[in-house]
Formats: sequence, structure tokens, C-alpha cells
Amino acid sequence: MKRRDFLKSAVTTGAGLIILPGGLRANAASNKLNIALIGTWGRGLAHFDSIADENVVALCDCWERNLADAAKRFPNAKTYVDWRKCLEQKDIDAVVICTTDFTHAFVANWALNRGMHVYLEKPLGISVEEARVVRANWLPKKDKLATQVGMQRHAHDNFNRIAEMLRDGAIGELKSAYAWGNRQIPKPGYLPAAGAPPAGLHYDLWLGPVKTDHPYNPEYFAGGPGANCLKWNMYWDFGTGQIGDMGSHTMDLLWNAVDCGLPTSAEAKGEAFNPDVTPVKAEMRFEHPANSWRGPISLTWYQGGAMPNPPSSYVDINKIGHGAMFKGTEGILVADFTSRALIPLGKDGSLSYYKPRAKEALLPSVGHFQKQWINACKNPSLKTACDFEYSANMIEQMCLGLVAYRVGKKLDYDGKAGRVTNNGEADALLKRDYRAGWTLNG
Ligand SMILES: NC(=O)c1ccc[n+]([C@@H]2O[C@H](COP(=O)([O-])OP(=O)(O)OC[C@H]3O[C@@H](n4cnc5c(N)ncnc54)[C@H](O)[C@@H]3O)[C@@H](O)[C@H]2O)c1
Repeated sequence: MKRRDFLKSAVTTGAGLIILPGGLRANAASNKLNIALIGTWGRGLAHFDSIADENVVALCDCWERNLADAAKRFPNAKTYVDWRKCLEQKDIDAVVICTTDFTHAFVANWALNRGMHVYLEKPLGISVEEARVVRANWLPKKDKLATQVGMQRHAHDNFNRIAEMLRDGAIGELKSAYAWGNRQIPKPGYLPAAGAPPAGLHYDLWLGPVKTDHPYNPEYFAGGPGANCLKWNMYWDFGTGQIGDMGSHTMDLLWNAVDCGLPTSAEAKGEAFNPDVTPVKAEMRFEHPANSWRGPISLTWYQGGAMPNPPSSYVDINKIGHGAMFKGTEGILVADFTSRALIPLGKDGSLSYYKPRAKEALLPSVGHFQKQWINACKNPSLKTACDFEYSANMIEQMCLGLVAYRVGKKLDYDGKAGRVTNNGEADALLKRDYRAGWTLNG
């Protein structure tokens, strides 16, 4: 059933609520969504204004201090410290998830399974399996449930302009693409035990599905609002390092333009493997088959100081902290989030054949990124830019790259089956083990 038909089959009750098949509800009188915010401080704060126009009916945070602060802004919401309990609340239409990376796929799956629209902060998951399960859960419901992963830089029009230029042949035939990020947060290993969690911080719920019982250390909680993720996201059990951090935004700049599905191979190199901490410096290369508008291409991700070769002697791409570069048969396109430069190949190169699109033919602007999702929750004919298919494919590739880094071998990948076909050790690393009692797809 298409989302439109699905909504048509909804019934209106006397109370003005539309009861949708599968338990979904939208308030007919006000056309407002009933929203739950899970993870209310830090990145959660950045969502306050966009959800304030809706009915915020539930708040969840494993730290009661943060919950109490959010309740001042949304006093009518019920409060929870355990997101599993929160998702049992029956009147929730849509959920915004701003918790730690290692809980993202869990909360997203549970919400989808309860018929809720989902806005999920990036990254969508931290393993190949997590990405695949979220995508598999969403695809059959894609006409009913709106999803968006928090890669909000996607709303810069530069994303569209780059995609148009590549499709319109601005650099000839696309051969390869590169993205890089220079953020470096080296750490020696997990933090040692230090004191007890403050009253009201449910550290057991913070650890949630993590299998190893890492002891409490206040340093995991010592970052500023929206930057506390930089205190934990580099540890293997808590995140994927720069891939899930700035890499989610920077890879998105590339991913949006190249129109790829899953890769057929992955290989990677970087600094020596640390069993506690993801690499600071690393490089990952992926091969992708041809699609309807281009031939096969290779994509390469660089982080922590690794960089692609510069496009020419007079262009210093090291000045771009987080950027992307596209190489074609005729020229090179270099970009950051908001600007781009076209460079002809060779000394006789001329890109004079390329004519930018007329205004009427430009891809439409995303507009307000969070509102794009809210609008799509209410109007099933609207799409979101970073839905759970687009975003899962992207992070599945990157998590596969981390597996290739760990085993140090070129991996052949069967994206349909989600299997590494030439390396059993790597295949086993596509999944993570979880603490007993925590179910990824519950
Ligand atoms: N889109 C962006 O530009 C952007 C920017 C910053 C952070 N983020 C993402 O947002 C997420 C949160 O980052 P942060 O820096 O705010 O982290 P944080 O450590 O400050 O956590 C955010 C909030 O979630 C709560 N929380 C953590 N685990 C929870 C759990 N299991 N259940 C309920 N509440 C829980 C914390 O107590 C805190 O209030 C990360 O995934 C990060 O990647 C995105």
C-alpha cells in the first residue's frame, strides 16, 4: 500500500484522532505530530525549536539532570530514563533520536517496529549488520513512515549543484571520487574506573547494549553540549571514530553526487590497530559498479591526515578540512560543504563545452532539514533527503571499510547477501556482540 492510500484508509475517531492502520496516530484537529525526543541534551537541544511546533509527548534521557532540563521546555511530556519504556507509550507518532551512536540502530528499529516515523542523528549504525537491519526494517514501510538521518549539511544547495554537474558531464565521464576529514582525536584506550556515576545518571542504561562492562569515568561525559560525542565516539564499543563523526557529513557530500548502492569491494590501510580505539589516520577504498548515467567508479575516504593527491600543483586541498574531489575524463571538481571549484585536466584542458543548468532545471532545495522530515511525516507524498535507504547504504559501506582496515586485506563484498565472500574473519566482523537482554530488532 502506498503511503497516500494508507492514509486514506485511516479512520477518524470522535476525539479527533486519526487512528491509522498499525497504530499510527496524527492529531486531526491540529495536524500536529506527537513526538518523543530520546537523548534530550547535547545534540537533542538542537532539535528543540523544530519539534516545539508539534506536540512533544515524551522525553527520554538516561541522565535525570538532562531530562529535568528538557521538561522545563516541554512540561506536558511524560519522562523516561529507559528508551525501551518510552517507546511503549501508545500515542507517539514520531521519534527524534539523539543518543549515543551505539544505540542508534536499536532505538530506530524499535521505533520502526512500533509504527513510528524516525529522525535519527547520524550515524545510522556502527556496524554493517546494524545498517542492514535498519534498512530492511524500513524498506517495506517506506510509503508509511518518514525517516531522516541527521546529516543536515545536506540542505546546502552546493550538494545539489555538485550532483547536477557530475550528471551533466561537467568533468567528462566520472572515474573516481574522494572525500576526506582532518579531525584528529587520539586516545590511548578505554578510560580506567574513576569514581561513581553522579546521582541520576543511569550508567547501566548509558552502556545499554555494549557487551563489555566498561567502568564509569567522568571523562566520557565531560564535553560541551553537542560535542560530548567527541568524548566517546572513537572507542570501538561506542562508535566508529571519524566515519560516524564528521565523516557522516563529508561522505554525504560525495555520496549524494555519485549515486551508488553497495560496493563490490573494500580495502583499507592506516595506523597500527588498537583494540580499544578506532584509527585516527586511515584510508579506505571502495569499488562500485556502473549505473544508468556513469561507468564503474572507485571511492576513497581519507581521515586523520591521510589525503588524496592534489588535483594540480597550484591547488592546496590541505586547506579544506572536510572536503570532496571528483575526477573525470576531462576535469576535476573540488568541493567543501558550501563551495566548489572546477579544474580542467591538462594544460590544454577546457571545460567550455559545459553549460550550467538553467534555473528551472535545478534540483529543488531541501529547505529546513528537520522540517523536511516533519512535513514528510504529515504528507506521505513528500520525500526526505537522507532516508534510511540512502543513509544505511552509505554507513554500511563505511563500516565495511573499517572491517577491511581491521583485517588488512582487500575484501570482496556481496551487498545483496551482506557477506564478505573471500575472508571469513572479516565476514564475522560485520556483526557486533551485544549484552544479554538487549535486542537490536526488538
Ligand atoms: N548532526 C550533527 O551535526 C551532530 C552534531 C553533534 C552530535 N551529533 C550526534 O548526536 C548524537 C549525540 O551526540 P552528543 O554530543 O549530544 O552526545 P551526548 O553524550 O551529549 O548525549 C546526548 C544526550 O543523550 C543522552 N543519552 C545518552 N545515551 C542515552 C541512552 N541510552 N538513553 C537515553 N539517553 C541517552 C545523554 O545523557 C545526553 O543527554 C551522536 O550520535 C552524535 O553523532 C550530530
